[in-house]
This record gives sequence, structure tokens and C-alpha cells, in this order.
Amino acid sequence: MELTPRLHTIAQQVPQGAVLADVGTDHALLPVWLLLEGRIPSAIASDLREGPLSRARETVEQHGVAERVSLRLCDGLSGIQAGEADVVSIAGMGGETIAAILEQAPWTRENTLLLLQPMTSFPDLRQWLQGNGYTVEQETICQEGSRMYTILTVRGGQDSPMTPAELWVGRNRPQPLRREYLSMMKGKVRRALEGQRASANPDQSTMEQLEEVLGGIEDMEKELKV
Ligand SMILES: C[S@@+](CC[C@H](N)C(=O)[O-])C[C@H]1O[C@@H](n2cnc3c(N)ncnc32)[C@H](O)[C@@H]1O
Repeated sequence: MELTPRLHTIAQQVPQGAVLADVGTDHALLPVWLLLEGRIPSAIASDLREGPLSRARETVEQHGVAERVSLRLCDGLSGIQAGEADVVSIAGMGGETIAAILEQAPWTRENTLLLLQPMTSFPDLRQWLQGNGYTVEQETICQEGSRMYTILTVRGGQDSPMTPAELWVGRNRPQPLRREYLSMMKGKVRRALEGQRASANPDQSTMEQLEEVLGGIEDMEKELKV
């Protein structure tokens, strides 16, 4: 079984011997790969919908790991109790959905490693984490085809406030692909700014915020060159 670069990058963050809960598992590729590699002893794989969960069932049965994967049909973490998993992964969903899932499961602030891979709403997710007793310990950037993704490694704890640019692109720690990621995100911010400028009713405060974010990202690019 091969994982895509995005799922492989998430898998690399799961500590040896941990029990994983993969929320929104769809095909259950991540937990099954980790089991087959001998990295985890067991897993919980959950999904909101019957269709994805039946795909997960097919994968676990096909690979002979059905006894070690508990499949759960539930919204977010509602069917998973505190203490059942050491690591919770929530990947391939919007940042607001990820925040809403964590909001319903405050136990994730205690003794739990969270691996979060948002598809959208990055600033909202980072802001929510910061305001709700979570700390982003690390961010890992990966590339799949022409798309770039970031995986947030998060635990309970108080983080220092992030600047507007950090809310958009994370803290500026040097790592492979960081420059490319900043350039891609700068394009996104520029497009949002152009959209505002072209609109019939541009929102002055949003434009000022976006300009501040753009300036912050440009400063980060300069820092990386030093
Ligand atoms: C794009 S797939 C991602 C699958 C896999 N996690 C990955 O990253 O490749 C998103 C999955 O999340 C599930 N999902 C969406 N909202 C959810 C929620 N609130 N609770 C649990 N699963 C959810 C969807 O049903 C879908 O199977």
C-alpha cells in the first residue's frame, strides 16, 4: 500500500506505538498503512457518513486488519472518548470544520497529540487554536503535484500570540518548501486583495488587514534569506 505525499507526511508524525484516532477517515488509508508498517498497535477510524465508512471497512478487510481498527460512524470526535487515543488526526477538511470538531471535544487539550491538515480557512483555525488553549508545536509543509499542504502538530497549552501574517502562514521556521509555501500563500493574499479592490464595495478594514499580512509574509521571505 502506498500513501500519497500528504498522508505520508502525516503518518511520519505519528509516534511509534501510539493509538491513532483518524477522524474523517474516508478510505482509512492512514490508519491501515500505519498498522501494516507496524507503527501503531490499533486505531479508531471514524467518519460522519456511511459511504466513506464503508470504504474504510473495505480497506481494513482487504488488508486483514479489521480486528485492530474500530470503525465508528459519528460526527467529529463525538463517538470517541477521552483516553481512547494518544493521537488524533483530522485531515482533508476545512479549517472551520476542524475547529468545530475540537470545540466539541475539550479532552483533546489533555495528553493528546493532534495532527491537523486543513484545506481552507488557515487563519481561522490558527486563531481558534490560539484562543482555545492549544499550541502549534510544529508545521510541516508537503507538496502533492502542484498543491502544497501544511500539517499542524498541536497539543494543549498556551501559545504566544501570532501576528496577522503568522495566522495565515504559520511561524517562520526554516524547513524545506518554506520559501515555495510563502510564495504560494503570498499569491493567495494578493488575489484576495485584488478581489477587494475590484469589488463595488471594497471593505477598507479587510484590505488593510490583507496588506499587513502581505507585508508580514514579505518580511518572512527576507528573514529566510539571511
Ligand atoms: C476529503 S475527505 C478526507 C479523507 C482523509 N482524511 C484524507 O485526508 O485523505 C473528508 C472526509 O471527512 C468526512 N467528514 C466531514 N465532516 C466530518 C465530521 N464533522 N466528522 C467526521 N467526518 C467528517 C467526510 O465524510 C469525508 O469522508
